[in-house]
Amino acid sequence: VFDSLRSKRSDFPILNRVTYLNSAFTSLTPRPVANKIAEYYLNHRASSVGPFEYLLDEIDTAYIRIATLIGSRGSGGSINSDNILITSSCSQAIETLAHALEYSDLSPGDNVVLSQLEYCSNATPWIRLGNKHGVEIRLAKFDPDTQNVPTRNFELAIDQRTRLVALAHVSNLTGGELHISEVSRIAHERGSLVLVDGAQSYSTLSVDVEKLGCDFYAFSGHKAMGPTGTGVLWSSEEAVCVLESLVPKPNYTDDGLPPYSRFWGNSASNYEGILGLGWVADYIRQIGIENIERYIAHLTAYLHDGLDHIKFIKKISPAQSRNLVSFLLPERWNVNDVADALYRNNVVGLVLGGNSFPFLPKSLLGNGAIRLSLHFYNNEEDIQRAMHILGEIAAGNY
Ligand SMILES: Cc1ncc(COP(=O)(O)O)c(C=O)c1O
Repeated sequence: VFDSLRSKRSDFPILNRVTYLNSAFTSLTPRPVANKIAEYYLNHRASSVGPFEYLLDEIDTAYIRIATLIGSRGSGGSINSDNILITSSCSQAIETLAHALEYSDLSPGDNVVLSQLEYCSNATPWIRLGNKHGVEIRLAKFDPDTQNVPTRNFELAIDQRTRLVALAHVSNLTGGELHISEVSRIAHERGSLVLVDGAQSYSTLSVDVEKLGCDFYAFSGHKAMGPTGTGVLWSSEEAVCVLESLVPKPNYTDDGLPPYSRFWGNSASNYEGILGLGWVADYIRQIGIENIERYIAHLTAYLHDGLDHIKFIKKISPAQSRNLVSFLLPERWNVNDVADALYRNNVVGLVLGGNSFPFLPKSLLGNGAIRLSLHFYNNEEDIQRAMHILGEIAAGNY
């Protein structure tokens, strides 16, 4: 199976030029999808043979492809794409939910529970909401021993006044997976909604929103091999009414109007974005998301092992991290110099600073961490190249 995945590497010609270990920041788009987007521009955009026929069918199919990949089902058990809202990014998906919640009956003294690991996209909307409405922000604490946020710490933070629990599926700092289904169960028992930030899990992990048990699942298109300027907010059938408070609810089913997501989301007219998201979902389906997940797990273990052989660095990712590993450097090394040395050798990673993680103690990230992240188009040689340079730096050769 790994061999057939490896053969797909040629779908990503950029990899001939660069060792790309930064997919958690933004990913690469496979040639078949890029070709389809070009084909749309060249032959279907504003076509005199009726662009709407093409668009309406293809857009409907795109929604269904996305819904299928995340297991969005209606009450009858069949795939339901009506609760998928296309946005311009994962950040905007989260922001949209925050705006929608402002229309609901939030009262001072209510609280929102977040993990201490949250990235700013899943922190600032809630801080703003909290300041404006007197809603308390509570944190489920990060545990430095396990490098993760234990479910127990959510249990301690959630109470009857919790309106929302918002947490990453996979942390973009540590790569650790949070236990969504357990947190969802606890939150629901106490009457709270649950938002999952799936920016790092969609396209790298097999995701089934029904099994996760969450109410909202937000993700990014550009981190998932899709077009830039795309994101998604999925809502459960029960929770979609929260979003409808933002949109004047037409009696769409009786009037034959499209579901709210099309009605609203399409007004942005990012057709190539929506179509591209659908084509990527289909590309992933053909390869098999379980195969992608398994291969990324293999590569991540290989990356952990490589880093274990580099002197002086300190990993801040749990051993079972998903699609990335981050590490701290000894104080005498400058983090930007190390990132530059990698870059000069054609290896692209990322420096992460404390400002992106508003709830983490500043001491945890010190002068910054380096993150190397993977997608299924990477291979062992990519990792070896990065390890070679880090090894040279550790040996004092830079
Ligand atoms: C965990 C997490 N959430 C949200 C985002 C923001 O995604 P987008 O660029 O689609 O807004 C990122 C991007 O780094 C992320 O890693």
